[in-house]
Amino acid sequence: LDNGLALTPPMGWLTWERFRCITDCKTYPSECISEDLIKRTVDMMVIEGYRDAGYDYVGIDDCWLEKTRGPDGRMVPDRERFPSGMNALADYIHSRGLKFGIYQDYGNLTCAGYPGVLGSEQLDVDTFVSWDVDYIKLDGCYINATEMDSGYPAFGKLLNDSGRPILYSCSWPAYQEDIKMMPDYASIAHHCNLWRNWDDIDDSWWSLERIMDWFGDNQERLAPHAGPGHWNDPDMLLIGNFGLSEDQARVQMAVWAVLAAPLLISADLATMKPEFKSILLNRDILAVDQDPMGKQGLRVYKEKKIAIWTRELFDGSYAVAFVSHRTDGAAYVFRYKLKDFKLPEQIYDVQDLYKEESNRSVGPNEEFAVKLNPTGVKFYKFIPRSTEKVRTNEVVIID
Ligand code: DGJ
Repeated sequence: LDNGLALTPPMGWLTWERFRCITDCKTYPSECISEDLIKRTVDMMVIEGYRDAGYDYVGIDDCWLEKTRGPDGRMVPDRERFPSGMNALADYIHSRGLKFGIYQDYGNLTCAGYPGVLGSEQLDVDTFVSWDVDYIKLDGCYINATEMDSGYPAFGKLLNDSGRPILYSCSWPAYQEDIKMMPDYASIAHHCNLWRNWDDIDDSWWSLERIMDWFGDNQERLAPHAGPGHWNDPDMLLIGNFGLSEDQARVQMAVWAVLAAPLLISADLATMKPEFKSILLNRDILAVDQDPMGKQGLRVYKEKKIAIWTRELFDGSYAVAFVSHRTDGAAYVFRYKLKDFKLPEQIYDVQDLYKEESNRSVGPNEEFAVKLNPTGVKFYKFIPRSTEKVRTNEVVIID
């Protein structure tokens, strides 16, 4: 969507994966969907450095509404959980240099059964604008997936006509893929800034593997549609929650960066362990995800439970992730040549983006040895020697 937004994949935080539809604040005082959770998260994003690393959207997913609209037909935020109202919450978020994301659903009801926008589209866009919303995730429960080809663009037009820059996240293809319809990704990329392609992510390696496999298996029809302003969305980051080991969390971060995926943390920042935090804040990996060329990477190799993913970057270098899907215990060494993972044959200086190995170099026909933990990753930047020379010369000329 050419609205000037999401020129690199959006980054931020979203409630759903970790906090789901927890509405019982008595039993779950620090986890229920509420203004307290959002404000606490905003504070953590600022204090702990997430905002400064680029995570700048804070989003409320489903379960923020009252079950019925007000007498004027307007959406009413849950009175107990959002007692100060959305304008006050937006002010809180904006005053701390962050942006405000919210969820709605194109159907009669949201997936969790709260009132959807159908029949109230204009009023709801007006309401969101009056609340200074910056990001809308529009889900697709309780509506026929065949109607989405016209419905999502129509809602997007209302957003665009509102005059407020609002990032538009669509669940449109996810529901069509679900019923084996072939989504029109060219149209989706034209009308949305990002779009959920497939199933919801859950807090497990099993779920993460399924999603990586699906994005690899379907990459030919997905990857060409990603670029500045329009991104495929494999769903939220699980990092910092219960289900992934540190190795598995590193896998998700690496593969999401190769996929040019939106990076939406869905975790409790107050209980985030330092090893997970350092994965989320790894500047070199964030730079891969946020590469200005915006070219989505590909899975270029998959054999014997090893997948290799590569992404070309704007400066002529490549991000390369070696992912082990093995679970047989040992950390084995695997040896590859450049042609195995389809990199142009030249000499590269290679940097480990997780900064455990020292720099090395590799050339055509040389073996590149990679030691992989079970369900682990090594993530490198392959920098062609020739590009470095070009850049050094440029600097010399400018000096
Ligand atoms: C389905 C979406 O795919 C999820 O990300 C989440 O928004 C839920 N609906 C909320 O009900």
